Amino acid sequence: MLKIGVIGCGYWGPNLIRNFINLKDAQVKTASDLSENRLKHMNRLYPSLAVTVDYKDIINDPEIDAVVIATPVSTHYELAVEAIKAGKHVFCEKPLTSKVDEGIKLVSLADKAGKTLMVGHTFVYTAAVNKVRDLIKSGELGDVYYISTSRVNLGLFQDDINVVWDLAPHDVSIMNYILESRPVSVSAVGYSYIQPKIQDVAFVTLRYPGSILANLQVSWLNPNKIRATTVVGSRKMLVYDDISSLEKIRIYDKGVDVIPHYDTFGEFQLSYRYGDISIPKLDDAEPLKIECQHFLDCINGKTPRSGGKHGLEVLLALDAIDRSMAANGAEIKIEYPESLA
Ligand SMILES: NC(=O)c1ccc[n+]([C@@H]2O[C@H](COP(=O)([O-])OP(=O)(O)OC[C@H]3O[C@@H](n4cnc5c(N)ncnc54)[C@H](O)[C@@H]3O)[C@@H](O)[C@H]2O)c1
Repeated sequence: MLKIGVIGCGYWGPNLIRNFINLKDAQVKTASDLSENRLKHMNRLYPSLAVTVDYKDIINDPEIDAVVIATPVSTHYELAVEAIKAGKHVFCEKPLTSKVDEGIKLVSLADKAGKTLMVGHTFVYTAAVNKVRDLIKSGELGDVYYISTSRVNLGLFQDDINVVWDLAPHDVSIMNYILESRPVSVSAVGYSYIQPKIQDVAFVTLRYPGSILANLQVSWLNPNKIRATTVVGSRKMLVYDDISSLEKIRIYDKGVDVIPHYDTFGEFQLSYRYGDISIPKLDDAEPLKIECQHFLDCINGKTPRSGGKHGLEVLLALDAIDRSMAANGAEIKIEYPESLA
């Protein structure tokens, strides 16, 4: 039975507490938040949970094996460092840290300490994203040409991070995972329409090895909530709509073939294929439950699907997106440190 302490009981922390509490191999011993009201709320839900406004009560508790961090990103680094130095395994919400150098130091610290460091990139634990990955891996889509995603809605405006750091961690994590690759460069434009100097809309293009393009739109300023990803391959195409409850993935047997031509003018001939549309059945287990169980399994020896290195690769892309936006969309090459070779 692993004992867990959770720091941060705002919007997301309670989801993690609920899932860990429901796992048979874990006990959530203590929860911490700066707000007494949030702690009272947690105690109403779980009367046996110890609560504290001082997160150090968790860090310094020798009975606690692992610390879950669900606080604002600017606090992740220091909390995670303290927890690892105190000998705890760490599950840290996404994005891992707010700066690349902090991410590098944290990953190295966890490695040296031999502690599990996992990042809450929840989408890599969803059935839909794993199905897309399987379809790519099995060759069913053919060679992937490009991916485009929209993650847009009205709000929630953040005042400490821009829309890229809020929403794009999901897309970069998903794309790196389904392509089993990482971007080599990025070009991005973003604007701050509502809050000064905090971009609320960004259009980002990532270039992956093998001429794969990925485009993502992230916005807090859109009338509709859209969570859509299109993957276009040489054999088939698919649309993954995360809002849809029953038809999250539609696979289109559509494509364009170049017809071999023998005429004297050497005209380029194309044939368009319009085949069936299929909708795979997906497991409906809660991704967060799978993610929390995976964290426990990793403490017991498994390799994290979204470990510190995955989290750090996401940070490097986010940082490059920021730099490209600052340079009016210039292409920025992403340099990966040796530890990620
Ligand atoms: N994986 C996902 O899908 C997902 C979804 C939402 C949020 N998140 C992530 O979860 C984290 C938290 O986001 P949120 O929306 O819950 O934020 P939030 O602002 O609603 O909650 C954060 C809480 O942390 C508390 N806190 C801050 N510093 C603390 C400290 N030193 N000790 C104890 N408590 C402290 C605050 O009082 C607040 O209640 C962020 O990293 C965010 O990116 C992940």
